[in-house]
Amino acid sequence: MPVTLHKAMRYSMMAGGKRIRPILCIASCEAVGGKIKNVLPVACALEMVHTYSLIHDDLPAMDNDDFRRGRPTSHKVFGEAAAILAGDALLTEAFGIMTDFNLRKTVRADAILDVIGDLARASGSFGMVGGQVVDMESEGVEIDLPTLEYLHTRKTGALILASVRGGAKIGEGADEEIEALTRYGECLGLAFQIADDILDIEGDQDEIGKDVGSDLEKKKATYPSIVGMAASRERASELIDMAIDSLKGFDQKAEPLREIAKYVVERRS
Ligand code: IPE
Ligand code: IPE
Ligand code: MG
Ligand code: MG
Ligand code: MG
Repeated sequence: MPVTLHKAMRYSMMAGGKRIRPILCIASCEAVGGKIKNVLPVACALEMVHTYSLIHDDLPAMDNDDFRRGRPTSHKVFGEAAAILAGDALLTEAFGIMTDFNLRKTVRADAILDVIGDLARASGSFGMVGGQVVDMESEGVEIDLPTLEYLHTRKTGALILASVRGGAKIGEGADEEIEALTRYGECLGLAFQIADDILDIEGDQDEIGKDVGSDLEKKKATYPSIVGMAASRERASELIDMAIDSLKGFDQKAEPLREIAKYVVERRS
């Protein structure tokens, strides 16, 4: 109990999705020589925060979308109140999971605290939620490129960056490694949202599992709407080159991070 709440939480969490944030977190931990087992609670927490953000992003008061991860959106199935509460619960439980002693016995408590602080800031008013607010305020408004990059690096970039840094911190990476991975995460996060904007125009609904053309309909500020499709693609691939370049000090353990970077701009979903 409450049955409906947990059903709604599972409905969105288990619908699939690319799991890119937890995968990045694990890959980053491995790149600095850390163990997967130690980082799993943080990886799960990241996916829970992300899933909450999607449930709320789709609400009628926000993007008002009907499909997500190949299924009707949470509020379509469970109603708005349950969708809001399922999101609230996923966000809160995410922080609980990271503090569960049974799951993090071998990880230093100060490392966990550091990562919890980072995730809180990445998700809050100076991070994801802040970006979502500017996204909503920019509907139907002409904004300049710096403002768009501000909102993209926050609504999407912040959590991606926290995933990469979180993995490296739990893996006890050296300061220079974390610095390099921070540059990687920043470039990747912005590129990821540019690719998302492109897919909203060119994607196939069955492949992306969510509504196509939703941004145009709501006159959203997107990369293609401001600089055009060709410049958007160019910017995304430039960012990916920069992301991969940031990893030059790493050995083959960072290969998954390099491959993920390429995937981010080549993906079709
Ligand atoms: C979609 O994220 C929302 C953005 C922040 C761009 P994803 O593209 O990672 O969605 P899932 O998790 O694969 O469903
Ligand atoms: C969503 O951005 C960002 C967050 C959920 C924090 P979008 O509104 O572009 O994401 P999609 O396209 O609905 O997945
Ligand atoms: Mg949105
Ligand atoms: Mg949306
Ligand atoms: Mg989008």
